This record gives sequence, C-alpha cells and structure tokens, in this order.
Amino acid sequence: MQLLDGTSCSQQIRQEIAEQVTKIRENGERAPHLAAVLVGNDGASQNYVGMKVKDCDEVGFNSTVVRMEETATEQELLDKVADLNTDDAIDGFIVQVPLPEHMDENKVILAIDPRKDVDGFCPENVGNMSLGLPTFLSATPNGIMELFRRYNIETEGKHCVVLGRSNIVGTPMAILLSRNTNPGNATVTIAHSRTKNLKELCRSADILIVAIGKTEFVTEDMVKEGAVVVDVGQTRVPDSTKKNGFRNVGDVDFENVKDKCSYITYVTGGVGPMTRASLLQNTLKAHQRR
Ligand code: GUN
Repeated sequence: MQLLDGTSCSQQIRQEIAEQVTKIRENGERAPHLAAVLVGNDGASQNYVGMKVKDCDEVGFNSTVVRMEETATEQELLDKVADLNTDDAIDGFIVQVPLPEHMDENKVILAIDPRKDVDGFCPENVGNMSLGLPTFLSATPNGIMELFRRYNIETEGKHCVVLGRSNIVGTPMAILLSRNTNPGNATVTIAHSRTKNLKELCRSADILIVAIGKTEFVTEDMVKEGAVVVDVGQTRVPDSTKKNGFRNVGDVDFENVKDKCSYITYVTGGVGPMTRASLLQNTLKAHQRR
C-alpha cells in the first residue's frame, strides 16, 4: 500500500505557483487576489477558509476574507457577491459552503460571475468542463486528478466507482474521469443512496472515490484487492482526548481498508490540501485571463 500524499503534492504545486507569482511581480503587475466569503460560525468552514488564506500567503497571493453573520439575509449575501463580481482588485472568489439553512446555495452560485468562479461551481464552468473547453475545473475533483497525474496512476480503461453525486464533488469527478484525457478515459459508475448492490459494485472498482459524507462507510469487504481508494469525506467527531475536542473522520474505514489497496488517501493530508492547491491554480488562471 502506498499513501497518496496530498500534503507533499500540494507543496510542489504551491512552489510552482510561487515561481509564477515572482515572475508576475517582476513584470510590475500586482499579485493574484483571492477573496473568500464566510457566512456564520461553522468551525470546519472557518478552518478551511483559514487554510486557504495561509496558502495564499505562502504563494504570494493577496487574499481577503469577507465575514458575514449567520443571521445575514440571502439578499445581503447576493449584494456582497455583486460587489465582488465588479471589484477590479479581486481576480476570483469563493463562497464557502454549506450556507445557513435560510439561504439558497444554488441562487448564490448562479449570482457569481463565471469569470471569477474559481471554485468552478457555476453552470457555465461545469458546462465547459463537460465539453472539455478551457475553464475553472471544480477544485476537489481536479485536485484528485492532479494526484493521479503526479503518482502516475493509470485510469484509462479502469472501472471507477464514484460514491456520491454532489454538484461539487461526485458529479464533476465522474465527468473528469470519463473524458478523453490523461488521466481520464475511465469507465465510470456514479453510485448513491438509491444504488442497489452497493457492496458488489464497490468491489468491482479499480478506483473507488468516496464522497458520501458518512463516516467510515466504506469497509474492507467493499474494496477489491489492489484498488486505488480516494477518501473525500471529512467529518468532525467529538473526541475528548484531543486538545480541540474533536477528530476528523473520513468516509473510509482506513485502518481496515488500507492493506487491500495499491494506493489510498488518508482523511487528513490527502484530498484537502489538493483541493486548496486547485483553488490556487484557478486563481492564478483568473489573474492571467484578466
Ligand atoms: N465546502 C467544502 N468544500 C468546498 C469548496 O471546495 N469550496 C467551497 N466554496 N466550499 C466548500
């Protein structure tokens, strides 16, 4: 078993981006600028946004966090999005999800100017991705593709099962893997809560991507010997032995699954850092396009 090390892979990517930023600065241009809108006080979201800011600092990007109260109205958020759409100092921005219940996530995503949508969530960018046109690729699926690329993991002709059909992970993941690219050219099945014979289906996967949001859902009996397993899940579970009172648990029962795999990611240091690296790549692209 080999661990797919998102921390070191993303470090390489950040290094490459930092070199580009140095060149941008040498040309007398301003550095790329990413903004993140954070609504409410969700601990995990605050942590993710904090890490995104840290990444920006490391590569020499400017960053801005726009904080809004949990009680902010949907219209206030839409007004903020409209401001960011027209702010020439900002190359790209994200609205961290999940949003509070009283806000319609789709409505907010639709309000983002696709030219600044560095998450790759807008219909125009998802559509371009589906057609293989230049675009901002969804950050998490693209981060996983980058892991496959950098570890030379063959995807062509492989049966890939994507567990979960969310707009931000499962669905775009399936599109990217099935495209005529390298990595890509996989035979992809999207599985979800209504899928029958899930265990058998997962066992038939050469590559299993798990983004179902249920802790330790994938057990050893669901994994084929020699499979590549990518765990996108990250749930905070109370743990009094930890200083911060919780630990992160993935969607895969790592300890029991790992020895069956040729490659596997761990809940921390796996997909998360790669998602953030993709966001930096997209922000650099947004800056270059302008
Ligand atoms: N919440 C969890 N992952 C993401 C992401 O990649 N982008 C945004 N905006 N919110 C998220």
